[in-house]
Amino acid sequence: MAKIAILGYGTIGAGVAKVLETNAEIIRERAGEPVEVKYILDLRDFPGDPNEAKVIHDYNIITEDPEIDVVVECMGGTGAAYAFVKEALLKGRSVATSNKELVASRGSELISIARDQKANFFFEASVGGGIPIIRPLLTSLTGDRIEKISGILNGTTNYMLTQMEHHGVSFDDALKDAQEKGYAELHPEADVEGFDACRKIAILTSLVCGCQVPYEDIYTEGIRNITAEDIRYAAALDGKIKLLADSWRDGDHIYAMVSPMIVKNDHPLAGVNDVFNAVFVRGNMVDDTMFYGKGAGSLPTASAVAGDVIDCIRRRGEHFEIAWDPSKMNLSNCDEYERKFFVRMPADTPYSVIEESFGPVEPIRLPGLDEKAFVTALMKEGDFKNAANRLGTVISRIRMES
Ligand code: HSE
Repeated sequence: MAKIAILGYGTIGAGVAKVLETNAEIIRERAGEPVEVKYILDLRDFPGDPNEAKVIHDYNIITEDPEIDVVVECMGGTGAAYAFVKEALLKGRSVATSNKELVASRGSELISIARDQKANFFFEASVGGGIPIIRPLLTSLTGDRIEKISGILNGTTNYMLTQMEHHGVSFDDALKDAQEKGYAELHPEADVEGFDACRKIAILTSLVCGCQVPYEDIYTEGIRNITAEDIRYAAALDGKIKLLADSWRDGDHIYAMVSPMIVKNDHPLAGVNDVFNAVFVRGNMVDDTMFYGKGAGSLPTASAVAGDVIDCIRRRGEHFEIAWDPSKMNLSNCDEYERKFFVRMPADTPYSVIEESFGPVEPIRLPGLDEKAFVTALMKEGDFKNAANRLGTVISRIRMES
C-alpha cells in the first residue's frame, strides 16, 4: 500500500483525490499496489467533504510519518510550497507537483535534492495541464535537437480569446467565466498578463537546454490590450489572435517570448480553442509535432499529477534522471529577431510617412473603421520599436507568428 499526502485542497488537490478514488482499481494495477491518500494539508476545514477526516493543518505530521511515500504539492507559490517540497525530498520522499512557479524557479535545485536522495521530483502537470509534454521532451524526443517550441500554454486566456472571437463576449465577462470554471489563477493577472505562460515556457526551454532559463529574462506581454477590432483584423488576415509562449533557436541564439500573436489559420495552433492548450515542437529530425489537450481545470490537471504519483511509486528507491543544470542560459535579445508586425494607426497618417518609418507595408481595411492598418515586411523588433516610438501615434501592434 502506497500512502500519499496532498498539500493544498483547492481545485487541483481536490481533483487529485478524486482521480485516485475514481480510478483506484486501475491505479492499483498500474502502480502495483493500492494508493491511498492519508493526509490532506490545508489551512481550511472541509466539513461534510468525504475527505474531511484526512484534513490536517500541521505539515510536521506528514514529515514525521514514515508511511508517506509521495507528497503531492498543489498549494502554488514558492513560499511554504518550496519549504515543504524541499523538506519532503530531503527526507527521501518523492514529490509530484502542479506548481509551475515552483518548478520554473527551483526545478534544478529540487531535482538535485531528489537525485541525492534516490527519490523523484516530477512536474508533468506544471505545463499544459493534462497534456503529456514534459515526459515526451525528456524521453521520446531526446534524440532531437529542438529548434522551436510554440505553445498555447494558458487555458484561461485561450478560453477568453475564443469567447471574445466566437461569441463577442467582453474581456471582463470572459475572464469571470474562466474564473468560475476553475481555470484561472488565484490572481488572474498571472493569466491575463502572460506570467503563467512565461513560467511554463521557461520550464520547457530549461528542459530542452538542460540548464536554467530564468523566467525573469523572458519578454512577456499579455492579452489585456487585445480588442474586438484586433480580433476582426486578425480574421481579415486569415488568422486568429493567440497568446503564444515561444522559444526558438536561430543559429547559436536562443530566444524566448510570451506575446499575443496573429497565427494564420493554416497553422495547427490556430485551431486550438477554449481551455485547450497545445505545444508545437519542432525537432531537427522529427520535424513538426504537436501535443494537445486540456490545459487547465481540476481533473485534466489532476490526471497528470496522478500519472506522476504512479511513476513515483513504481520507481521507489530509484531516481529518474532529469538533466537540468543550475547554470544560467543567456537568452538572446528579441530586439535582434526579425518578424512582421500588424499595426493600427490614425487615419490621417499618410502612407508615405508610414513607409518611411516601417518600410513597405501591406494595407488592410475593415468596414466601419476609420484608421490605417497594415502589416509590415520582416523587420527587427528593435527597429520596429524605434520607428513606432519616433512616430508616437501607433494605436496598437500585434506580432505576426513566424
Ligand atoms: N491558470 C492556468 C491556466 C491553470 O489557465 O492555464 C493551469 O496552469
